[in-house]
Amino acid sequence: MKRRDLIIGAAAALSVGQLIGCARVDTTQTGSVTATPDQPQARQPRPATPPVRALRSAASSRGLYFGAAIQSATLSDSRFRSSVVRDCSIITPEWAMKWDSIAPSRNYNYGEMDQLASFASRNGLAMRGHTLLWDKSLPRWAASALASNRDWALIDEHFSKIIGRYGNQVREWDVVNEPIEPNHGGNGLRQNQFYKAFGEAYIERALESAKARAPRARMVINEYGLEYNSGYEGQRRLSLLRLLERLRSRGAPVDTVGLQAHLDLRKGNVYADGIYGMMRDIRGMGLKVAITELDVAEANTGLSIERRDALVADETRRYLDIVLQFNNVLGVSTWGLSDSHSWLRTQRSAANRGLPYDREWQAKPMHSAILTAFA
Ligand code: XIL
Repeated sequence: MKRRDLIIGAAAALSVGQLIGCARVDTTQTGSVTATPDQPQARQPRPATPPVRALRSAASSRGLYFGAAIQSATLSDSRFRSSVVRDCSIITPEWAMKWDSIAPSRNYNYGEMDQLASFASRNGLAMRGHTLLWDKSLPRWAASALASNRDWALIDEHFSKIIGRYGNQVREWDVVNEPIEPNHGGNGLRQNQFYKAFGEAYIERALESAKARAPRARMVINEYGLEYNSGYEGQRRLSLLRLLERLRSRGAPVDTVGLQAHLDLRKGNVYADGIYGMMRDIRGMGLKVAITELDVAEANTGLSIERRDALVADETRRYLDIVLQFNNVLGVSTWGLSDSHSWLRTQRSAANRGLPYDREWQAKPMHSAILTAFA
């Protein structure tokens, strides 16, 4: 069924509801259905908000997973916990597994990450391993050791600790995070601390070290900035594809590409041709795709809430409609679940409403957009 038919169908159902007089839609409270007080049928108890269809079941009916990044601090919020358990079959630690978070000093402190891992195992959730190598989360002590020794043993030891401890629960490892930067030189790679120490080979070595310790998990290169129609993002797509080709031709154990998908209405709307071409080339190399960090930064927070939420939902649907045409997609994760904890608000503009739930845990049009895209 086409989306337009679904919308027409929903509108028709609403009018039937109004005609038979069992309920009216209270437009002042988005998403809530209230009984009309002067009608006898109104005595029937009704939930305050209609049940929200779980994203995980919509995804799994298509053979996909749905997941979200979570911060360990949010586990103390029961609404957060229950929404994660209802909607997700997999979670990504937003911070807790990053090198500088787990080992700000040479002594590893697993407390926060253990909390997330035990929440996941108690609730039957799988985990994404985010992330083994990311230049932006390299602790200072490791950065200076790397700069002075250029010793792979440092990286290997880190992998061994993290994979050794969480490997049983992690289905996908973001082995290398954000290696691409077309402005840094001819091969399109970011000249980060790892590159400076080992050259391009660091990527392959990381994949090999991780694969040796987690032979059954997926080995992911996770990247951002691949969705829009600009010369720069075009270069980013090309640089990523070229890197993947080089890795494949050398037999490096990469099997999955993580597309972060931090959508951004300030850049316009997603560029269907560019994304489609990239997806086709990735599939052509025999690789899987995971959408790993979906959220939508807003361009104009001065509009009405309804309009803003509609724009966010439309952009989400546009993107997912393209990528979900490809049968090598494993699943979709959002970067957070509710606006109550979103890096868009803390690191961009505090007004952002770029996740499926609002701060009061009401599902927003973005939630329905994901459901519709899965359908
Ligand atoms: C971000 C977190 O959301 C922030 O809270 C943290 O301060 C910095 O990292 N790409 C990634 C994620 O791969 O790890 C980043 O997460 C967002 C961009």
